[in-house]
Amino acid sequence: MSSTSNLNQLKARLASARAVAVLTGAGISADSGVPTFRGADGLWRTFRAEDLATPEAFARNPRVVWEWYDWRRGLIATKSPNPAHHALVEMERRFDQFWLITQNVDGLHAAAGSRQLIELHGNIWKVRCTQCGQVSVNREVPMTLLPYCSGCGGLLRPHIVWFGESLAPHNIARSEEALHACQVLLIIGTSGVVYPAAGFSSVARAAGAFVAEMNLDSTPNSSVVDVSIQGRAKDVVPELLT
Ligand code: OAD
Repeated sequence: MSSTSNLNQLKARLASARAVAVLTGAGISADSGVPTFRGADGLWRTFRAEDLATPEAFARNPRVVWEWYDWRRGLIATKSPNPAHHALVEMERRFDQFWLITQNVDGLHAAAGSRQLIELHGNIWKVRCTQCGQVSVNREVPMTLLPYCSGCGGLLRPHIVWFGESLAPHNIARSEEALHACQVLLIIGTSGVVYPAAGFSSVARAAGAFVAEMNLDSTPNSSVVDVSIQGRAKDVVPELLT
């Protein structure tokens, strides 16, 4: 089936939907210039996740981990939401129920104005105390390294879900609610290999939702979804509003 007919099929579903959920990944921010993880120029091509994005790596060498996050914060600070982020803000206004579940930690959905936002993997602009657990916003660029908690003096870490760590239970619960209540699920710009988000297409489909993928390439999700639309997020997502 051609991409145009897929797009029209999806638009027809959205026209009659009251409850819509969206799952986004690094591909939506790629159009803002934020590097993805697994593409040709992806971060995991240059850096080893086990050295930088695990609790063990942080315990071993917090400075190396912080330097990497500080570098990413500096890069992201120069980027802005693109038309795909803005289209999802408009979509939130159009439906009775709307959930935006993102794996991105860059904060660009919030910067665009999305409110019904579930930041599944955390947020690079938040820090968490390794001693007292206090979470706070920190927008300093570059950061003073190493950072310490103003309350208890404990070492701060990025408020990010690292490999080997569990997602926040309230984010899992809200995502489950979305996947079971939505009539349409859009999966935008994710490689679909990191669980549990990689399994969301199957969960929503089993619960009766129409599931559409929007990505530059095909992914493991492509064989599970109702329609796949290939293209850049900044081009295809705004099309849904026309
Ligand atoms: P990946 O880098 O794994 O995948 C990005 C996806 O976006 C790929 O499928 C690309 O084909 C697609 N893509 C690239 N540019 C695009 C564009 N302009 N428009 C549409 N699609 C495009 O990123 P994620 O799937 O988000 O975890 O990765 C999942 C998690 O793995 C991340 O949240 C991160 C990483 O380790 C944490 O940071 C905790």
